[in-house]
Amino acid sequence: MNGWLIVNSFMDSDKFKEIYALLLESAKLKNISLKLLKSQEISDIVGSDFSNYTLPDFVIFWDKDVLLAQMLENAGVRVFNSADAIYSCDNKAQTYIRLAQAGVRIPKTIIAPKTFESIGYNDFTFLKNAIDRLGLPIIIKESFGSFGQQVFLANTEDEAKAIIERIGYKEFVFQEFIKTSCGKDVRINVVGGQVVASMLRYNENDFRSNIINGGNMKPFIPSDAQKQLATVAAKALNLDFAGVDILFGPDEEAIVCEVNSNPHFKSTLECTGINIAEHIINYIAEELK
Ligand SMILES: Nc1ncnc2c1ncn2[C@@H]1O[C@H](COP(=O)(O)OP(=O)(O)O)[C@@H](O)[C@H]1O
Ligand SMILES: [Mg+2]
Repeated sequence: MNGWLIVNSFMDSDKFKEIYALLLESAKLKNISLKLLKSQEISDIVGSDFSNYTLPDFVIFWDKDVLLAQMLENAGVRVFNSADAIYSCDNKAQTYIRLAQAGVRIPKTIIAPKTFESIGYNDFTFLKNAIDRLGLPIIIKESFGSFGQQVFLANTEDEAKAIIERIGYKEFVFQEFIKTSCGKDVRINVVGGQVVASMLRYNENDFRSNIINGGNMKPFIPSDAQKQLATVAAKALNLDFAGVDILFGPDEEAIVCEVNSNPHFKSTLECTGINIAEHIINYIAEELK
């Protein structure tokens, strides 16, 4: 069996290279030939079928370039995660719409109205409405973002307005701030519908628990409700593998914060000793049997 590991052409930080190395090593151990390719090394005219390439049995798609993923699928290649699944995680507004539709508990969320680059916002009625419905402080989250870098907490309407002005015309959502989970959440890794690893992330100095922001981590045994929520969320978004972030609600109830289609699992390995790459490779081998 042979596969391609497709990665972003321009992002070459060690943080990402570590993930690629773990996937390549796990494939090798399983006698699967996995070739690392940058997205720009694979291209074809729209509507063509990549006939200049010997297409692999599968692709592990470690990029957010869902258009390339979609074209590969159209050419008949099995892509893990699928283009649709990656998109439904990458666009957080889309994630919340799909999770809510599937009955998965999420923080109360309002999607900001669309504007355009040349127009921006010239009327903030929508901000007043969001604060009326969700209260203060309020979370403002860009639809596309990671490592907590595009997630903000506004204590007042003026702060919220300043944040929105900085975001400019990019898509974002308002979200109820789950105070009982301030700086703390659970990352649950799901592969092939099974929970394979879990850790608690916590930060005393920031409302965001992301490790890259200075969050700490420790192994964690999730409750049945948290496990159930993680697997249902992964299924709702058609993910073969996922990192599901779960908040602690007021009565400890589990609430999905977001879902990652390409979870950064090096920290999970450091924290729990569990190598998600091995689980992903084993799962793909089973699926393609
Ligand atoms: N509605 C919320 N209530 C409380 N904390 C939140 C909420 N949304 C996000 N957070 C905190 O911010 C962090 C980053 O938000 P998240 O939606 O996971 O974005 P990213 O993709 O950047 O990680 C979360 O891990 C969590 O600690
Ligand atoms: Mg997150």
